[in-house]
Amino acid sequence: MKKNFLIHTFGCQMNVHDSEKMAGILTESGFNEAGGHESTDLIILNTCSIREKAEQKFFSELGRLKAAKKRKPSLKIAVAGCIAQQEGEDIFKRFPYVDYVFGPNNIGKLKGWIDSAITLNPELGTYNTANRQQAIDIADNPSYHTMGLPVKREEGGRAWVSIMYGCDNYCAYCVVPYTRGRERSRPVEDILHEVRTLSANGCKEVTLLGQNVNSYGKNLSDGADFSRLLYVIHEAEGIERVRFVTSHPKDLSPHLVTAMKVLPKLCEHIHLPLQAGSDSVLKMMNRGYTYNEYVEKIQMLRAAVPGIAITTDIITGFPGESEDDFNMTISALTDMEFDGIFAFKYSKRPGTAALQFPFHIEEDVKSDRLAKVIELQESITSGKNRRLIGETLEVLVEGASKTDRSRLTGRTRTNKIVNYCGDKEDIGRLVNIKILEAGQHSLFGEKI
Ligand code: SAH
Ligand code: SF4
Ligand code: F3S
Repeated sequence: MKKNFLIHTFGCQMNVHDSEKMAGILTESGFNEAGGHESTDLIILNTCSIREKAEQKFFSELGRLKAAKKRKPSLKIAVAGCIAQQEGEDIFKRFPYVDYVFGPNNIGKLKGWIDSAITLNPELGTYNTANRQQAIDIADNPSYHTMGLPVKREEGGRAWVSIMYGCDNYCAYCVVPYTRGRERSRPVEDILHEVRTLSANGCKEVTLLGQNVNSYGKNLSDGADFSRLLYVIHEAEGIERVRFVTSHPKDLSPHLVTAMKVLPKLCEHIHLPLQAGSDSVLKMMNRGYTYNEYVEKIQMLRAAVPGIAITTDIITGFPGESEDDFNMTISALTDMEFDGIFAFKYSKRPGTAALQFPFHIEEDVKSDRLAKVIELQESITSGKNRRLIGETLEVLVEGASKTDRSRLTGRTRTNKIVNYCGDKEDIGRLVNIKILEAGQHSLFGEKI
C-alpha cells in the first residue's frame, strides 16, 4: 500500500521553499502526493505567524482536521513552520490530535520521525499505531544551513534557492527573529552547486532567498558578501535570470547597485520594504534607516538600472503613528511611485518589542489608513501597467494561469505577471509577449 502526503503552506517564500524540502524528504521516503484530504495518510500544515490573520487561518484549518482524524485514526498530522516554533508544546495541549510539531530549522528531522512514527505493517496493510507518540523538534539548530536536503520543486523553469536562514534585525513588530532564529549564511560553494544542478535540469531562473539578503556572508569566514555571491552565481551556465528577496534598505550597498548594473542576468526588480514614511515611526520600528536614506538608495538604483521595478511593504497604524506620520507614508508612496506594494495593518505579535509600546492605534483607524494606502497605490500601479501597453516584454512561462486554465502565465524581468493564450510547450521557456491589456495585478498579451 502506498503512503500519501499533503502539505498545506501558509506564509512567505521561505515557507513555500521549506515545503518543497519537506516534499523532497517525503518523496525520497516513498510517499506520493495525495489528490485530496480523503486519500492522504499524512498532512503537514506549514504555518506562518507574521500577522494575527495568518495565525487564525491556520488555527481554523487545524480545527477542521479534528473530524478528519476521527474518520481516519491512522491519519498523521504534523505542524511545521513559524507557529510550530512559536507555540511549541502548547499545540499538543490545545490540539491533542496533532502528532508532530517541528520548527523551520528542524525540517531534516522529518525523516527520522516518519521512520519511527509511521511504520507500515506489511501483513495488515495498515499503519501500526501502537507506538504512536507525539514528537516535537523545535530546538535551535545552528548547522541547519549546511544540510543539503532533497527538494521537490514545481515545474516551470524557475527555482527558489536558500542562501541564508534566520534574521538578527529585531524590527520591533516582527516575530521572524524568534521563529527562524539567528542569521546564518550558507557557504558560496553549496549555493553554486545547487544552482548548477538546477541548471543541468533545465532551470532558467533562480531566486536567492533570505530575510535580509544584503547581510549575506556576515558569519562566513571567507569574506563572502552578497554582491560577490551574485558575481559567482552569475557564472552558472544555462541560468538566464537571477533574482533575490528580501533586501533590507539599511544593508543595501553601492556594490549591490553596481552588480545590478553590470550583471545582465540580474533582473531589473528589487523588493525593498520601506514600512513607513515617517522617521520617528521608522526609528520606533528599529529599521535602521531614515526616509531620506531610503530615497537615496532608490535614486541610486534608478540611476544605475534603467527601467528597474521597485516594490515595497508598508505597515499602517504602528503604535504611536500620528495622522502626520501616516501622511508621510502617503507622500512617500506618491513620490516613490512603486510598481507594487504589500500593505498591512500593524498586528500585535507575541514576544515582540512593539507589543509593550504605548499608544496602540484603534483597529478602525489602522483599517482606514490601510484602505487609503491601497487606494492610492492601485491608481499608481494601474498607471504604470497601462504604460506598458504596446511594449514587447520577455516572459518566463511558469504554467497555466490559476484564474483561467486556458491561459498561460509567466513573469517579466521586472516581475510583472503576464497572461497569454499559448501552447503548453512554452512552459519553462522564455518567450516574447506584446502587451495588449493592463489590469491591476497582471498584464495580458500575445506571443510574438
Ligand atoms: N525580511 C523582510 C520582511 C519579512 S516579513 C524585510 O525585512 O523586509 C514581510 C512583511 O510583513 C514585512 O516587510 C512587514 O511589512 C510585514 N509585517 C511583519 N510583521 C508585521 C506585523 N506585526 N504587523 C503587520 N505587518 C507585519
Ligand atoms: Fe522581520 Fe525585520 Fe527581520 Fe524583516 S528584517 S524578517 S521585518 S525582523
Ligand atoms: Fe510567516 Fe515565518 Fe515567513 S512568520 S512570513 S512563514 S518567516
